[in-house]
Amino acid sequence: MNPVFEKVKKSYDYIRTVTDFTPEVALVLGSGLGEFAKHMEVECEIPYSSIEGFPVSTVAGHDGRFLFGTVEGVKTVIMKGRVHYYEGYPVTDVVLPTRLMIMLGAKKLILTNAAGAVNTSYKPGDLMMITDHISTIVPSPLIGENISEFGTRFPDMSNVYSKRLQDVVRKSAKEVGVTLREGVYMQFSGPAYETPAEVKLARLLGADAVGMSTAIEAVAANHMGIEICGISCFTNMAAGILDQPLSHEEVSEAANKVSHIFESLVKNIIKNI
Ligand code: HPA
Repeated sequence: MNPVFEKVKKSYDYIRTVTDFTPEVALVLGSGLGEFAKHMEVECEIPYSSIEGFPVSTVAGHDGRFLFGTVEGVKTVIMKGRVHYYEGYPVTDVVLPTRLMIMLGAKKLILTNAAGAVNTSYKPGDLMMITDHISTIVPSPLIGENISEFGTRFPDMSNVYSKRLQDVVRKSAKEVGVTLREGVYMQFSGPAYETPAEVKLARLLGADAVGMSTAIEAVAANHMGIEICGISCFTNMAAGILDQPLSHEEVSEAANKVSHIFESLVKNIIKNI
């Protein structure tokens, strides 16, 4: 068996010894956005650390557990905390939890993250629906022998962020009265924030947001053929736009400040999904 597939399957088999929960929606919570879990009627919790061989986040403030339950009556699995490529895990480990949630039955994936605004008409506190991404700076999680149980060798990437879900997100934002930005997310490897020159590069390439996650998870989920949507929460202007340094504390604090509107948007997306 392909070792990458085997690892996902082993985690799947372990989870199935704990719960037979079949989620409809999978939700990945980005840094500082973890409080969303309070909107779930939790049926079962599984810490990543209880799953043998599972990647565990090393970043302070990044909790690591799966929550299974209902949000607005919809069967959902929440990934509270993700692992990042910069933590040193191979990309296939970084996307393992995403693949696992899809193997457990999720048909729709909502990816969220904290991001820096590259588009200067956007500002900290804004929420942006991801319409497309640039992930070419980080390695593809699909490199290596194709895992045909997941998808085809050369998956189409023309519509990674489902048009139908984009409409759901727009409608949901309107209903809760959130101004929704839209744009392209570019994933950098981190852990250092970008240099001003890299931010200029991102802008030249057409990016509106920069961050250290999400795109490779979307690549893996798209390979498996499910519907994906993504929401970035701008915690700062990307480096070099303002004359001030960036810090993780500032990013977490800014994410916490908008968590309320972020939570109502995501709750409504799940309701309308
Ligand atoms: N760059 C990369 N990742 C981030 C940023 C940023 O400016 N803000 C929050 N996550």
